[in-house]
Amino acid sequence: MSSSLFVVAFFTEKSLERRAGAARREARASGCLGAARTRYRPYPIISRAAVNDPVRIALIGFGYWGPNYARVVNELPDAELSVVCDRSPERLTLVRDRYRAVPTCGRVEEVFARDDIDAVVIATPASTHAALVRASLEHGRHVLVEKPMALDVAACEALCELATSRNRVLMVGYTFLYNAGVRKMKEYMGPEPFGQMYYLHATRTNLGPIRQDVNAVWDLAPHDIAIFNYLLDEQPVWASAIGTRVLRTNRDDIAFATLGYKNDVVGNIHVSWADPNKVREVVAVGSRRRIVFNDLNDFERVRVFERGVSVGDAIADSYGEFKLLVRDGDIISPKVEPSEPLKNQCADFVAAVRGGEPPVASCHFGLGVIRTLAAIDESMRSRGAAVEV
Ligand SMILES: NC(=O)c1ccc[n+]([C@@H]2O[C@H](COP(=O)([O-])OP(=O)(O)OC[C@H]3O[C@@H](n4cnc5c(N)ncnc54)[C@H](O)[C@@H]3O)[C@@H](O)[C@H]2O)c1
Repeated sequence: MSSSLFVVAFFTEKSLERRAGAARREARASGCLGAARTRYRPYPIISRAAVNDPVRIALIGFGYWGPNYARVVNELPDAELSVVCDRSPERLTLVRDRYRAVPTCGRVEEVFARDDIDAVVIATPASTHAALVRASLEHGRHVLVEKPMALDVAACEALCELATSRNRVLMVGYTFLYNAGVRKMKEYMGPEPFGQMYYLHATRTNLGPIRQDVNAVWDLAPHDIAIFNYLLDEQPVWASAIGTRVLRTNRDDIAFATLGYKNDVVGNIHVSWADPNKVREVVAVGSRRRIVFNDLNDFERVRVFERGVSVGDAIADSYGEFKLLVRDGDIISPKVEPSEPLKNQCADFVAAVRGGEPPVASCHFGLGVIRTLAAIDESMRSRGAAVEV
């Protein structure tokens, strides 16, 4: 073995072991059923010519969102768009117009039959995800699936277990975890300057697009739940929600959900397909700061209000009244480096496939989001009763 080849193999084994350890820790921390029981083996060395070769990716689904993946994967230096699969012949014609050298196919079985595919990106409707993820993992492929990973908790647990036992990366497309504005928000939420965490509030409204297979909660709220869990580094303990149908569909198109976290922190999420005002906003309020992330404001994506209120000493001679300490300071508009969230997300996936750390939006993280969505659904069925997550 030449010395350079030896160095590559040594590095690979070490990084694989590191990732195996990290994945074990993560599975344990997430409480993913069975994951902790599953004996973890390091990823086998991928059957590529060399470990530094690009990760060969198949894209399944080239509808509204899929073309963004095609473009991003095509631009990433460590990845290669190797095939695009969509069951619509019209969509495949579009693929061939844009990417003349990229093969296309109409059936996923054709993707799995190829021996030159390391990983699969799934950008099909939510109701198809679970079966496609399972088939991809069973065929030995790493998977990046759009949110939500599946439509029930048991299916997600099973997929996480399968990925762990097959030593494959399973990641969910939570683009906002890779949004520089959300990352900046977290930076400004350091415990000392932010103070005590009071609450979070998110609004995600627009006129559609209306999905045929899931309600507005499963379509839109995964993003906000993911952002909350990421900002707080935890999952909610309970959920309470009210949904309603105004567009004559058979699914809730508007919902208001409240999530209860530890230490009485609450997060509120409003999603709607029936609001002519498009809003993509998350607000975090602490005792010393209020932080606003507005994804539609290219000039001021994040604003930090150095203002807050907390409770001071008891007021003398009063019965249980306390002074309110109001702080007032600057309004800061921090610089948010421009970067494309989807590109950052795909780069994290590719790095994980190549033997790096597990991705931020891992399947275990995704499982926490699904548990919350399931609790929200159950609460909506009982008109807002609090449901344990
Ligand atoms: N992260 C984001 O910001 C974001 C934005 C939009 C959509 N999404 C997600 O992306 C996914 C796709 O959404 P969309 O709006 O592109 O949907 P879409 O309906 O526009 O496109 C889906 C495509 O998948 C194809 N397809 C369906 N089943 C297939 C199968 N079994 N095999 C091959 N092709 C199949 C369809 O022909 C269609 O072209 C959804 O999960 C959605 O939630 C995420």
